[in-house]
Amino acid sequence: MTIILHSMAEVRAWRTAVASAGPIGFVPTMGALHAGHLSLIALARQRAATTIASIFVNPLQFGPAEDLDRYPRPIVQDIALLEAAGTDALFLPEVAELYREGASTFVVEEAVSTPLCGATRPGHFRGVTTIVLKLFNIVQPDFAAFGQKDAQQCAVIERMVRDLNLPVEIVRGAIVREADGLALSSRNRYLSTQQRRAAPAIQASLQAARAAFDAGERRASALAAIGRSVLQREPAITLDYWEVCHPGTLQSLDNVGSDGAMLAVAACLGSTRLIDNLLVPPGL
Ligand code: PAF
Repeated sequence: MTIILHSMAEVRAWRTAVASAGPIGFVPTMGALHAGHLSLIALARQRAATTIASIFVNPLQFGPAEDLDRYPRPIVQDIALLEAAGTDALFLPEVAELYREGASTFVVEEAVSTPLCGATRPGHFRGVTTIVLKLFNIVQPDFAAFGQKDAQQCAVIERMVRDLNLPVEIVRGAIVREADGLALSSRNRYLSTQQRRAAPAIQASLQAARAAFDAGERRASALAAIGRSVLQREPAITLDYWEVCHPGTLQSLDNVGSDGAMLAVAACLGSTRLIDNLLVPPGL
């Protein structure tokens, strides 16, 4: 039975009651849950005595022209999925519970949040770090699980945890994909039939660059050109970025060195923006 907690006071009381059972694992989400989220719940359940998820569509991480209003909120289905996955508790706050009128304190990470999505979605990671720190303060988990599909988000949160000495371990869960390679995302449900057919090209572009890497190519410009050319063949897709970056700092590379690299792509199908990434060498 998943207990639903709406207020900070309820979460704190719940936390006090379960704390002695052992580690608390936390999976923060914005809902519209899919198998990727459920794999994070499974990961958390393997390591924790008690698992809590949150569903909160965080207005602070959406730009003015982004999809806050149309972001899917299938809450009844989400609760059923969390229940079936064996989640012990769900924090389901309203906006007013988390953001006081006139709130003027925010968390800004200034290095790993600046390239890639940070460059094309100004303010996005400020919204993410602010809400994640708030959620950590409320839930006080021993660890929190985030999906590798949002690899930059993982890196930004790991940096925040390090820099602000937060007593939370960050665990990354592997990307979960459809059979044709498309990375699962809550935003996939926006895709038209034609866009859905085109979308696996995003993953294919990463695989093409990986094949070149496996064949010995180490120049970032050559790897990116191979990836971009796959996407350019797909008229339904508009490229946002296709980058070869350092897997830790996310700074763009000239050549892939001994630390390996993250191949990162963001692309739009109509007004739906999707991201994906791949680490080279595999298993990095
Ligand atoms: O990845 C997400 O769903 C969100 O960015 C998060 C981490 C729940 C913060 O709102």
